[in-house]
Amino acid sequence: MRILAIETSCDDTGIAILESNSRSQPKILADLVSSQVKIHAPWGGVVPMLAKREHQKNLVPILEQGLKETDLLALLGHSDPANAGEESLANASTAARIRGKSFGLRLQDDNTLKTILNREPELLKKIIPFLKKYQRPDIDLIAVTIGPGLEPALWVGVNFARALAYVWNLPIAPINHLEAHLGAALAFGTERKSSAIPKNLFPAVCLIVSGGHTQLILMRDFGEYRILGETRDDAAGEAFDKVAKMLNLGYPGGPKISQLAAKFNSEFRNSNFETDSKLKIKKSELVLPRPMINSKDFDFSFSGLKTAALYLTKKLTKAQLKNFTPAIAAEFQRAVVDVLVAKTIRAAKEFKAKTVLLAGGVASNDLLRETLSLATNHLSLNFLVPPKNFCTDNAAMVAYTAYLEKTTFEKKYRFNWKKIKADANLTIA
Ligand code: KG4
Ligand code: ZN
Repeated sequence: MRILAIETSCDDTGIAILESNSRSQPKILADLVSSQVKIHAPWGGVVPMLAKREHQKNLVPILEQGLKETDLLALLGHSDPANAGEESLANASTAARIRGKSFGLRLQDDNTLKTILNREPELLKKIIPFLKKYQRPDIDLIAVTIGPGLEPALWVGVNFARALAYVWNLPIAPINHLEAHLGAALAFGTERKSSAIPKNLFPAVCLIVSGGHTQLILMRDFGEYRILGETRDDAAGEAFDKVAKMLNLGYPGGPKISQLAAKFNSEFRNSNFETDSKLKIKKSELVLPRPMINSKDFDFSFSGLKTAALYLTKKLTKAQLKNFTPAIAAEFQRAVVDVLVAKTIRAAKEFKAKTVLLAGGVASNDLLRETLSLATNHLSLNFLVPPKNFCTDNAAMVAYTAYLEKTTFEKKYRFNWKKIKADANLTIA
């Protein structure tokens, strides 16, 4: 079985191809991500309409590249007997579509294809020559992220999947973005010999931390989720991004803050702040709060922490701010990590978890990975976290989650493109 996966929930355009057979672990044959960081950086955050525009530009070229890398692309030459006919696709039978009949001249006149990509005209312009050029690749299922995420961005991926599914006569597996982040930890976060998820991992307490989400989830099994708590305001990644902006570190803030904090921790940690008379400041003045760390629930709040960081930057002189930016970055990161780890470990104890699973873009933060690894080790719990490149958005995790759904629940996806919709507010439980 081969799965083609599409991810466009935020500002990364992702295409992946997964191959599996009953004898061995599924393999990711291609995994391509086109990042839009440079496009959004001047705005200090993701601009949904720019993300939509970029996804429309990127999808076809990276799909073409992914299929080429895996040798799944064959030209639809004129010598191809299946291509001899020229009837309109709209009237063509399913069988004719599968064979690739009339992929040629009439594709641009196909009304269904035009309707599917009505709101993505740039994508329509790119997909037609692509579909005319190549035969249907040897793929069995298309997996696509349907939500949660940025609505206009999600729709580009969903409508791309619908268009390909329609023309190539393939079923679509609709994938929840948060479940895909967890899927990344299950797939790539551990060394396993069999392709099945070992039952002894569950129950697992999962911390999903990204630019849009911060949730603690109890996973009793793959597909069985209960939300234990979530952020009441900003997501953890959002707080990283906003504080980085305050400190003039640029976008995206997470990696910038963690680099600066690492440098500070290795170089300046033990230096005496109070010796330079011009910069004089007490160490205690640089301490930020740990919001809700002792609250009985499993919720989070990061907006107060962000505001405290803002007050601190306002209180300092220009010279002080310049001098103490690395210290503030380190303290902010420590505060976020303290709260996330404290609540995750308390949830793991309370729900007698066997595993702690960490996922989402912020899971690439070194301090968070190390601190949670130590804490779980101390309690003899399994700890699953994807390698860093599978923490931020990618399509490999989407492909793997579709594979898990198909194999775990023996789902039979049919020719269903008409039923697939984006849902920006989709929840996991
Ligand atoms: O999962 P993701 O790629 O996209 C969403 O679904 O939101 O997460 C992106 C978020 C951004 O807010 C980014 O600043 C944060 O993950 N991030 C980090 C690090 N790398 C990315 N946050 C803290 N430390 C990092 N090293
Ligand atoms: Zn994400």
